[in-house]
Amino acid sequence: MRDARDRRLPRIAGPSGLVIFGVTGDLSRKKLMPAVYDLANRGLLPPGFSLVGFARRDWEDEDFAQVVRDAVRDHARTPFREEVWQQLAQGMRFVPGDFDDDTAFRQLRDAVQELDSARGTGGNFAFYLSVPPKFFPKVVQQLKKHGLTDAPEGAWRRAVIEKPFGHDLASARELNAIVHEVFDPEQVFRIDHYLGKETVQNILALRFANQMYEPLWNRSYVDHVQITMAEDIGIGGRAGYYDGIGSARDVIQNHLLQLMALTAMEEPAAFDAASLLAEKLKVLRAVKLPEDLGAHTVRGQYAPGWQGGAKVPGYLQEEGIAPTSRTDTYAALRLEVDNRRWAGVPFYLRTGKRLGRRVTEIAVVFQRAPHSPFDSTATEELGENAIVIRVQPDEGMTVRFGSKVPGTSMEIRDVSMDFAYGESFTESSPEAYERLILDVLLGDANLFPRHLEVEESWRILDPIEEYWDRNGRPAQYASGTWGPGEADEMLARDGRSWRRP
Ligand code: BG6
Repeated sequence: MRDARDRRLPRIAGPSGLVIFGVTGDLSRKKLMPAVYDLANRGLLPPGFSLVGFARRDWEDEDFAQVVRDAVRDHARTPFREEVWQQLAQGMRFVPGDFDDDTAFRQLRDAVQELDSARGTGGNFAFYLSVPPKFFPKVVQQLKKHGLTDAPEGAWRRAVIEKPFGHDLASARELNAIVHEVFDPEQVFRIDHYLGKETVQNILALRFANQMYEPLWNRSYVDHVQITMAEDIGIGGRAGYYDGIGSARDVIQNHLLQLMALTAMEEPAAFDAASLLAEKLKVLRAVKLPEDLGAHTVRGQYAPGWQGGAKVPGYLQEEGIAPTSRTDTYAALRLEVDNRRWAGVPFYLRTGKRLGRRVTEIAVVFQRAPHSPFDSTATEELGENAIVIRVQPDEGMTVRFGSKVPGTSMEIRDVSMDFAYGESFTESSPEAYERLILDVLLGDANLFPRHLEVEESWRILDPIEEYWDRNGRPAQYASGTWGPGEADEMLARDGRSWRRP
């Protein structure tokens, strides 16, 4: 018999519903609606699960259901099954209106009550704010005003918010204050979709479920850590969001600093949200900025170039971008974690759009062996040992080390040992949003950054952004290359070089 607490039992959400604000947006169509369907298809949603869309469109419930159906057809991960769709579609409602519109919010309240009695959602609703942050104050105030934040006895109400969580520390604090006026911190789920990726969750499994890595995971053995998030795409149609924000605010403040925190943190006392927060916060608080920001940070902007055999425009030629824009599309930083485990070990973070290829990885690069009994010619071609966590797209891990080349002489060269998800497991990985939406419905906050982490991350980034603002323009790099030469020089000055993944 299986124990009721068996972790292998599927985690199925209890009676509940999801209200999406901004339901006509890109994120909703490409990620949220397909994720809801995939969860339903995997049997992880309750039978009466309900989905309410709210937007400024003249739609009936059926029009909304059609939009969801198209989104699911185009973007879901799992196969389309009519019976799953039908069941889900019965719980779909649409509320047309503006965020200022009291009538619309009253209608939303009625819809929620109707679903409670018709579908048995039990008063449990999550409100997903897939809208620009400037609308957060209005939406949360309206939810409060119309009694939507008050759950009936024994039920829950939760808010889900998407980044950007502000554009600096001051605005993040302001935003957090607004949200916390209405929702308690435990009711707020901030999405950093990187934390929903299997490979990112695996960082903790790798480090803390095994014995063989942790003894080496410190300043005595590690030379430096490189965290790369490279994209081959440009900004696409997102000029309105991206310009003035740039790569560091877009992904370093959240995704990359979270990856760094997971890589550097101590073992949590338990695998729960409070313990994870405590350890990640300690890392972020210990992050030290370089004294010379000019020498240890680089920002760049993509120029025209070639990608996948096609000629692509530079950032300044993209639609909606002013020819004088100074927005960074590439950023590289050198940070240190000032604690006993990591003192003196640089963490190099870099990200960019229109780089050589799409890849996200964490490379822990080890010091060279302190002594070699071999002739120096034997190890001429030997690099540094490394453990590389391949976050995407080729999910897995590589361990790089030296090995003797077969033959009569002693010649040692780098080889690698690979773990690939696709080869070791038959299950395919769920999409990050599937995992995160399910966790919201289950009330499991492990994979959601709390406001203190968000604020601490801005504390790290703010001085860098201010320095960049005062100092000229980003360096140009040709699309399809690995970023500006300045970033290579930054590492070369430390006697190191970037990996070419
Ligand atoms: C988002 C950024 O958070 O992450 C985008 O806003 C970026 O600019 C995207 O393209 C990348 O996500 P993924 O999961 O494709 O690596």
